[in-house]
Amino acid sequence: MHEHDVVIIGAGGAGLRAAIEASAAGVSVAMICKSMLGKAHTVMAEGGAAAALANKDPRDSWEIHFRDTMKGGKYLGDWRMAEIHAQQAPDRIRELEQWGAVFDRTPKGLTSQRNFGGHTYPRLAHIGDATGLELIRTLQQKGIHMGMDVFMEFTVRRLFQADGRISGCFAYDRNDGSLHIFKAKTIILATGGITRCWEVCSGSWEYTGEGHALAYWAGAQMGDMEFVQFHPTGMIWPPSVKGILVTEGVRGEGGTLRNSEGNRFMFDYVPEMYADEFADTEEEALGWVDEVISGKLATKRRPPELLTRDVVAKAINSERAAGRASEHGGAYLDISWRDEDEVKKKLPGMYHQFKELAAVDITKQPMEVGPTAHYVMGGVKVDPYTQVTSVPGLYAAGEVATGLHGANRLGGNSLSDLIVFGKIAGVQAAEAAKEMGYFAGIDQSEVDEVVAETLAPLSRDDGENPAKVVSDLRGMMQNKAGIIRTRELLLEALADLDGLSDRASITSPGGGRTYNPGWHQALELSAMIDVSRMCALAALRREESRGAHTRDDFPETDHSHWGKVTSVISMGDDGSMDIGYTSYPDIPDHLKSLLDIDDLHGEGS
Ligand code: FUM
Repeated sequence: MHEHDVVIIGAGGAGLRAAIEASAAGVSVAMICKSMLGKAHTVMAEGGAAAALANKDPRDSWEIHFRDTMKGGKYLGDWRMAEIHAQQAPDRIRELEQWGAVFDRTPKGLTSQRNFGGHTYPRLAHIGDATGLELIRTLQQKGIHMGMDVFMEFTVRRLFQADGRISGCFAYDRNDGSLHIFKAKTIILATGGITRCWEVCSGSWEYTGEGHALAYWAGAQMGDMEFVQFHPTGMIWPPSVKGILVTEGVRGEGGTLRNSEGNRFMFDYVPEMYADEFADTEEEALGWVDEVISGKLATKRRPPELLTRDVVAKAINSERAAGRASEHGGAYLDISWRDEDEVKKKLPGMYHQFKELAAVDITKQPMEVGPTAHYVMGGVKVDPYTQVTSVPGLYAAGEVATGLHGANRLGGNSLSDLIVFGKIAGVQAAEAAKEMGYFAGIDQSEVDEVVAETLAPLSRDDGENPAKVVSDLRGMMQNKAGIIRTRELLLEALADLDGLSDRASITSPGGGRTYNPGWHQALELSAMIDVSRMCALAALRREESRGAHTRDDFPETDHSHWGKVTSVISMGDDGSMDIGYTSYPDIPDHLKSLLDIDDLHGEGS
C-alpha cells in the first residue's frame, strides 16, 4: 500500500514534465511506469519539437503555428488547445535548454530548427535525429532532483473512485508479480498511445493502450478514436525491422520519394487545400531546397514530400496499389544526393539504423520505406485549460489525451504537446490535490475483484497462448482498420474483436508471477481489445474521409457537418460501448481570421 498526493502513470515527456511541476508545488508525487525510467516511447520522436521560435526564419510566429496545426488536423482539432500549444511551446523549449538540453545550433548560436511536413517555416528544434531521447534525458534529470518516488516496471490495471472522484489505482510489479495499491488525491494519465494494436507500427512494446482503457473503464469520455496516424516512412526491409521509424527529418533535410519507375510521385498528390504552398515541378522544389541549404529564407514553394503525413502515407499506399512499389512494397526515400558529411551530421541515427539493420548506406543508396502506425490522435477528452478529464480528479496529458491534433498530427507537434500540456496537468493536479486535503477510501470489494482478475490467467492451464491472440489482433487491425477502411471491413473488425475477446478471456500463459511475459500479454489483451473496438466503432460511424481516416466508400470530406463534430465514446450503464458526437465552442473571430478561410467551405465556426 502506497500513498501519494499525485500519482502519475507514465514516464514519457508528458509524465515527467507533469511530475516536475507537481513536485515544485510541494505535493508528494509517485511516478509509475511500465518500462524502465528513461525508456519511454517519447524517444521515438526523432526529428524535433515544433515551436515558433523563429530562429531560422523570422517570419514565423505562434499565429502561423496555430494555423498550420488547425489546417494539418483538417479543422477537427480543439482551437483552444491549438492556441495554448502554439503560444506556449517556445517557452517550454527555452526552459528545456535552461535545464541542460543540448539542441543543435544555428551558425549564430541559436537553437536550430528544421523543416517538417505541414509546417510553413523551419520550426522543429532538434538534437540531430534523437530529439525525444535528449528531451527525456533532460526531464528525467530535472525530475529526479525535484523529488518523486519512481515505480518502474509496474503496470496499472484499474483506477479507483470514491465520493465521485479518483481515490487511487491498482498495479502489479512486472518483475516479481507483487500487487500494489496506490492511494492518491489526483492521478495524471500520461501513458502515450495504442499503436501496438497494429501489426506494422513504430510504437514500442509498452504501447498497448492501457491508459486509454483505464480512463474508459473509469467512465471517462474518449474522443476521436477513429484517427490513427500512419507515419509515411517506416522501415520495410528486412522483415524483422518492419515498422521502425525513419524520421520525417530525412524529408525535412531534402529527402525525395520515388516509385519503382523512378518518378517523384508526390507531385501527383498535392491536395487542393495545399496547392498554393507546394511546388508543381522538380525544378521549383529544388530551388526551395537550395535556398534552405544555403541558409537563405525560402521564397519558393515547398517540395511535396513535405505535405502532411496523412497525404504522404496515402500517396505511398496508392503507388503500391497501382503496382509501382519499391522492391519490398513501399517507396524509395533518397537523401544520398546531399553531402555525405552533412547527412551523417544531421541524421546520425538514420545513418546507423540503416547501416546496421538493413546494410544500406544512406549516403550512397536510397532507403526503402512504407507507412507504419505511429500515433493516435484520439484519446481521453480533457478540459483544454486544466487537462482534467470527465472523471473528477483524473487528468490526462500527451498522446493519451485528445484535442490538439484533430484528424492528423503534424510531425514535431507531439514533443511540444507533451511539455506544454504536461506542465499544465502537473500544476492543476497538484493544486486540486492540495484542495482535496484527504485521501478518499478504496472499496475492498473492488480490490478483491481486480486482484482475482489479475491472477486469473495463472490458474488456467488449457487455454490458448496469449501471444497468439495478440498477434491475431494486430494482424486483424492492420487489415481491417488500417489506412484504407470500408464499412464491410470495419463491421468484420468489430465481429472479429468479439471473437478475440472470447479467446482472450481464457488464455493460459503458464508459469508463475515472476518474470512472466506471457502473463503480462494475457493481461494487456483486455486493453488492446477495448481500444481497438473504440477505433473500429468510431471509424465505422464516420462516413467521410478526413486526415488519417480514409473510407474507400466515403472518399470525400463532408464540409457541411463533420469538420466541427468529434466522436465521443463512453461506457454505457450496461457496460456497452456507446458513441455520440459533440462540437467544440465556436472559434472566435480573431483566431478564425488566421485560418485559410477557403478550406472551411463556408463552415467557419
Ligand atoms: O518523424 C519523426 O521524427 C517523428 C516525429 C513525430 O512524430 O513528431
